[in-house]
Amino acid sequence: MLNLLKHPLLTHKLTILRRRETSTKVFRETLDEIAGLMAYEITRDLPVKNITIETPLGSCDTQELAMDVVLVPVLRAGLGMVDGISNLISSARIGHIGMYRDHETLKPMTYYSKFPDNLPSAVVMVLDPMLATGGSSSDAIQVLKDNGAKTIKLVCVVGAPEGVNRIMRDHPDVQIYLAGIDEKLNENGYIVPGLGDAGDRLFGTK
Ligand code: PRP
Ligand code: URA
Repeated sequence: MLNLLKHPLLTHKLTILRRRETSTKVFRETLDEIAGLMAYEITRDLPVKNITIETPLGSCDTQELAMDVVLVPVLRAGLGMVDGISNLISSARIGHIGMYRDHETLKPMTYYSKFPDNLPSAVVMVLDPMLATGGSSSDAIQVLKDNGAKTIKLVCVVGAPEGVNRIMRDHPDVQIYLAGIDEKLNENGYIVPGLGDAGDRLFGTK
């Protein structure tokens, strides 16, 4: 299911990411802030458990998170979303999956993966700012399922209809979160208008 997040601050910050003249420094800071703002919505349905604690003035029946959270950035660009979310969920553990799209075929190639051992019992959040053809995210989700993950959310910033449809077809059990959905892909598989190459803009490699 697609969750398109709407908030004036998100829209404002996404505009900053999209601008051609935004510097690497500002791009990095803004992506981090967007991830932090999205954290509020992507965690809305996390299960909680009842506990009793002591405040300085007495006992208090309250709640705390009942499930582990694992964040899995898709390298490279997903790295830019980790701090914004992990700053709010300090207990989150972090896995990594490295993928790049072959420039000719647009097919994703996996070159690295390393996950914590609690995938089966955790809410696993795949982080990647761009959902273009959906190939990278779909493969990353499949790798996580093959490693035992059962509850998976896909957290992207900008998506194309092709990518959303691909994830809904390949992984109907996965919740998709986006801050913006754009018109189409160009002939090179880039989201239009999008924001360009997220990895290059985040790390200043072009
Ligand atoms: C980008 C982006 C996604 C992928 C999206 O990564 O960060 O992972 O493309 O495209 P898709 O939905 O069509 O698969 P890229 O392959 O450019 O690698 P990089 O982050 O190392 O630059
Ligand atoms: N990857 C990117 O970084 N940007 C796009 O528009 C598509 C894929």
